[in-house]
Amino acid sequence: MTHPAHAYAKKHSDRFLEDLKHLIRIPSISTQPKHAGDVRKAAVWLQNEMEKIGFDTAELIDMPEGRHPLVFGTWMGAGEDAQTVLVYCHYDVQPAEIEDGWDSEPFEPTIRDNILYARGATDSKVNVITQLRAIESILSTPEKSPVNIKFILEGEEESGGETINAFVAKHKDRLAADVSVVSDGPIIAPDQPSMVIGLRGIIGMELHVEGPVRDLHSGHFGGNVHNPVQAITEILAQLHDENGTVTVPGFYKNVVEVTEAERQAISGADKYYEANWHKTAGAPKVWGEAGYTIQEKAGIRPTLELNGIWGGYSGPGVKTVLPAKAGAKITCRLVPDQDPTEIFKAIEKHINAIAPDTVKVSMVMQDMGAPAVRIPHDSKAAQTANRAYANHWGKPAVMEVAGGSVPITSTFATVTDEVVLMGYSHKGGLAHGPNENTCLSMFDKGIGTAIDFLLLYGKD
Ligand code: BES
Ligand code: MN
Repeated sequence: MTHPAHAYAKKHSDRFLEDLKHLIRIPSISTQPKHAGDVRKAAVWLQNEMEKIGFDTAELIDMPEGRHPLVFGTWMGAGEDAQTVLVYCHYDVQPAEIEDGWDSEPFEPTIRDNILYARGATDSKVNVITQLRAIESILSTPEKSPVNIKFILEGEEESGGETINAFVAKHKDRLAADVSVVSDGPIIAPDQPSMVIGLRGIIGMELHVEGPVRDLHSGHFGGNVHNPVQAITEILAQLHDENGTVTVPGFYKNVVEVTEAERQAISGADKYYEANWHKTAGAPKVWGEAGYTIQEKAGIRPTLELNGIWGGYSGPGVKTVLPAKAGAKITCRLVPDQDPTEIFKAIEKHINAIAPDTVKVSMVMQDMGAPAVRIPHDSKAAQTANRAYANHWGKPAVMEVAGGSVPITSTFATVTDEVVLMGYSHKGGLAHGPNENTCLSMFDKGIGTAIDFLLLYGKD
């Protein structure tokens, strides 16, 4: 705690917070083509900052048309015999409009009661700034860093992470490191650090249902043409049973059941999941498969979610239309050892089998997909992370399995010996929703933790 990097971080804390606000004001929404320039603007700013704080190399790596840049910096001053840490964050964000229910402009950081509200506040710009400024603090000391540092920033995690996967696969040598620190996701509560020992995988798809060749008068054709909106709801309603279990044959075939020991290891996080559910979800009642806690439903069980459904008329007043087509977006959260493509194929086969012959159905696999990962909680990296958190939060982390996905994590596990997840916001941060936020009481602790991880990893 006495290392001069901490004194530097403390002294510059106000500026670091201004940086977070600056980055937030750039609406780097990766899924919306109209924001491609903003995504690049954020990348340019980050590359420039890497140069300023003393990285040996800081590159902005442009991707093919329609994709977003990577920013990649290296500092190899610790020497060949020292260990190398690869730090990953994403600087893109999900879309946000004030009409979605925000109490202040989503891209204008606003502080109320020591909480900063903005899109990206928790997911994941606080992590980007935390890592960047932790590295700056270390490189500003005369001793510099005991480990070599590679820092890779992705601009399209929120839209599937395809290009970084190809980049990492192609440039394994450039990314070579002893450990990857995936700095994404929150800790479980502002005053309780947590370590993610499992992340779910993901696969996305669309279902298209077509009926008549054009929209029709529902008086003339209702009752003799199978309505595609009705047909799609009939199909979708068959994908779960009354217990919430997915009915697609083969869906659970490769699911690795967790052991009692694993359930025990994560049980310390259950009460936080319960509390967060009641505070954040606010749905009338908990739903889902019997026999699992909320955390287990979110982290160790796979799901099939309907993310959106369209078709027909939903504007004001009446339109007696029999629509020509309908569609739905579906994603599955996956657990070990489910294979994303196999799961897509199983669902496609099942939907083709249950679809009535009065409509045409087609399934399209989306350009995203990643398997689940398990991260050992007793690795050197996990123990180092735990010590770093404990130094600043005054207590050790609890273990958790998180329901979200960071698609690149499973790929990093193939290029570095160890992977660890370290996040610096909190679970109540409303990621992806209106009023996304981060607690400013955590900001300095996060930077301190990120500093200590690098210092401690270099020591042992
Ligand atoms: N930060 C999240 C993932 C996360 C959530 C990690 C909770 C740990 C705990 C990430 O930015 C995210 O939202 N990922 C997407 C990926 C998808 C678009 C391919 C997700 O999980 O929906
Ligand atoms: Mn996200």
